[in-house]
Amino acid sequence: MIASAPGKVILFGEHAVVYGRHAIVSAINLRCYAKAEKFSDVVIESPLGKTSLDFDVHPYVSYAIKRFSEIKPIKGVYLKIWSDIPIASGLGSSSAVTVAVLKSLDLLFETNLSREEIFELARRVELDVQGIGSGTDPFISTYGGTWLIPEREKVSIGNLDLTVIYTGKASITSDMVRKVASLREKYKDVVERVFDAIDAISLKSVDALRSCDLETLSFLVRTNQLLLKALGVSCREIDEIVNKLEELGIPAKITGAGGGGSVLALGNVNLEGYRCFNVSLNAEGVREEKV
Ligand code: MEV
Repeated sequence: MIASAPGKVILFGEHAVVYGRHAIVSAINLRCYAKAEKFSDVVIESPLGKTSLDFDVHPYVSYAIKRFSEIKPIKGVYLKIWSDIPIASGLGSSSAVTVAVLKSLDLLFETNLSREEIFELARRVELDVQGIGSGTDPFISTYGGTWLIPEREKVSIGNLDLTVIYTGKASITSDMVRKVASLREKYKDVVERVFDAIDAISLKSVDALRSCDLETLSFLVRTNQLLLKALGVSCREIDEIVNKLEELGIPAKITGAGGGGSVLALGNVNLEGYRCFNVSLNAEGVREEKV
């Protein structure tokens, strides 16, 4: 049984969403695939290696199997995983693999889980591995589409050209979320106001995204990037890309947790020396892949 789930871009609101503020998130046309077959033992085969249940090499997949086993005990499974989404790129590869694995197990062991049940399991896996997180990534990998979080309101987006530029440096979500948490502990009154400003940006973007109001979107992207920088989640590699794009007149911001990972540019651009993806938004959520 093969299942796939999409990666994501956070258009606005990363980090602030962990503290109950709004974010706009969309599923993208890069997917992760999981093939599950009945087997005597647990085997996980992926670009990271071939292991048994292994919480170091395959943390998300191992916890997904563990959590699924609490619903339906399983003796063994052979899981093969492949993906279009670069790992630790800020594009939701961890949640996509978690959700794709859960769906492939659901299909193989005929548990008939609803989308919401798959999301709940994936959300638990996110907390198992990271200890912290808003649940935004597992939500979008499960449901697909484009949403205003936390309300779960659908957002419609006009015909926008967006490019994702990969820094080549890993973005470790748990590290970045912890970094913001300790900044907030130290300067709570200030950091809470930064979150409030990001919240206002996410809310303001809803109309601008619908009508493709590039002037407003440019302001919101630039300001959101400055606020993320203030939260300490930018880095030299990100700043370099953002500055190069700025010279071309293209606004850009971190997408995802930052500290590396990817930059989202408002426009169609091919930046020399970098891996660039012309992503399309609003992709379908988790699904069975027929062979
Ligand atoms: C990571 O893709 C998004 C963050 O806001 C963390 C989260 O929402 O769990 C940085």
